[in-house]
Amino acid sequence: MRIVIAGFGTVGQGFAEVLHLKSDLFDEPVKIVAAFDSKSYVTDSGGLDPVALVNRKKETGAVGPNRMGSGIDVLDSVDYDVLVEVSPTDIRTGGEGLRHVEHTLRKGKDVITVNKGPLALKFNKLNRLAKKKGSILRFEGSVGGAMPIINLCSENLRGEQVRSIRGIFNGTCNFILSRMDTGLPFEQALKEAQQLGYAETDPTYDIEGIDTACKVVILANSIFNRDVTFADVSITGITSVSSEAIALAADQGMVIRLIGEVSDTVLEVSPRLVPKGHPLSVSGTLNTARIQTDLAGTITISGKGAGRIETASAILSDLMAIMDSRR
Ligand code: HSE
Repeated sequence: MRIVIAGFGTVGQGFAEVLHLKSDLFDEPVKIVAAFDSKSYVTDSGGLDPVALVNRKKETGAVGPNRMGSGIDVLDSVDYDVLVEVSPTDIRTGGEGLRHVEHTLRKGKDVITVNKGPLALKFNKLNRLAKKKGSILRFEGSVGGAMPIINLCSENLRGEQVRSIRGIFNGTCNFILSRMDTGLPFEQALKEAQQLGYAETDPTYDIEGIDTACKVVILANSIFNRDVTFADVSITGITSVSSEAIALAADQGMVIRLIGEVSDTVLEVSPRLVPKGHPLSVSGTLNTARIQTDLAGTITISGKGAGRIETASAILSDLMAIMDSRR
């Protein structure tokens, strides 16, 4: 299995580390044949050492020795089977990530992505393209990071009717709101969240509810078979949540959490009052979701919504699923 890693930030590096850590898992050779970030690229059809890639990135800020031109040129310069597209999210246009994903699917190759831009803007188009070309498109890590939700609903809960999903899908906002529960001002809580490495490259994506909206769209299209994009979501972020509102909620035994909700008719992101002790009142960077189904009833899941190794765990499971399918 020959892999290209597009994007070598937190998640790209985490995935390289996981490939190294889990090298014993694979019963066929798994090689990184190219990796690139916004500044540089490196290719080797014989396979690149994942640890050396991570070390070079840490030491020099660049993953490779070659100055980056276009990602498409790098993709065209190597033979590969799977693109791991983990470049930063661009929700306005889908950015380079969308081009990489489309290009790869069009060639009949497989894609694993946690990049929310392409999925929130062009999910159904990409899915149709993948079907037409016989490619596999997997994206477990795009919603909830390490918390299994996409494949849980589409594979483990196969046959069930999923009626609704409500959840916390943004670790940065949840961290900020739970720090505000303890009296910390918004700005300071945001700074702490950024230091943890959870926030998006542009943190307004987090606090304005845009990141959660992307995830709600991905769930709507992939689990509810809807045909919606980012523009269809009713979004309110957390910038208007004041310390006074949080104190008032606390007086009534409540917390305020940024909740994403999706069903056949609902597509919404908004701060909501949640009773303390309720499964959606979790604190810190955790993600959590309540999935209502017709047969199984309510299923509650919770897990790390971001992080280098945590998100890479979702990519690893997608990679192993692709390897099984292609065998
Ligand atoms: N910025 C996101 C979060 C990262 O805070 O949850 C994971 O998508």
